[in-house]
Amino acid sequence: MLVAGNWKMFKGTRETVAFFQAFEPPGGVEIVVCPPFTSLLAAVGRGIPVYAQSVHWAAEGAFTGEVSAAMLVELGVEGAIVGHSERRQYFGETDETVRLRCEAALEAGLAVIACVGETEAERGAKETEAVLQRQVAAIPSHERLVIAYEPVWAIGTGRTATPELAREAHELIKGLHDTRVLYGGSVKPENAAELMAQPGVDGALVGGASLEPASFAAICRAAAA
Ligand code: PGA
Repeated sequence: MLVAGNWKMFKGTRETVAFFQAFEPPGGVEIVVCPPFTSLLAAVGRGIPVYAQSVHWAAEGAFTGEVSAAMLVELGVEGAIVGHSERRQYFGETDETVRLRCEAALEAGLAVIACVGETEAERGAKETEAVLQRQVAAIPSHERLVIAYEPVWAIGTGRTATPELAREAHELIKGLHDTRVLYGGSVKPENAAELMAQPGVDGALVGGASLEPASFAAICRAAAA
């Protein structure tokens, strides 16, 4: 099981250090934290692998606001999230840029958590399968790459996918791509064990509930069990 904490745009360096002082990771589960760019260095070297939340595909260049894979590697960062739905929704991320970012990250030696997931409207229009097929087709295969299935309507809303619905989506994705698949979207200590018990669910990508050391540890323990 792999449990990744996506901190999004929360926690500067001071709060990052405080998190690690309080966080008690259980054994028997792979754990990763994904702080914002400016907190990466404060997180590296504290016993838990650190991933960035995005990565650019070019080695360097005139790309204001972006960070390259080599820059992350130089900091001691071990991986990156790519194609999170918030990047797709607010920052123009497309299947093509997801592919480019994945390839560059893998090429530089980083691990990748590549995110896919349908919106509420897409699910309502019965397009879930087509959307997942399209998104997954853009994601390269690599031993250092895992996919996170995050139904957009479940992110930050408290509306978790039912275990059955998660299992269905994970089975679909695994039929398209031979990789581990994490579930993401309102994972909490209360629902983590049931979600992670589903066949095809290989871990979790956790947003809000990864910000508190105690709740993140509880989710990690549920994954280890
Ligand atoms: P959430 O976010 O756990 O707060 O729903 C998950 C994610 O966006 O990765």
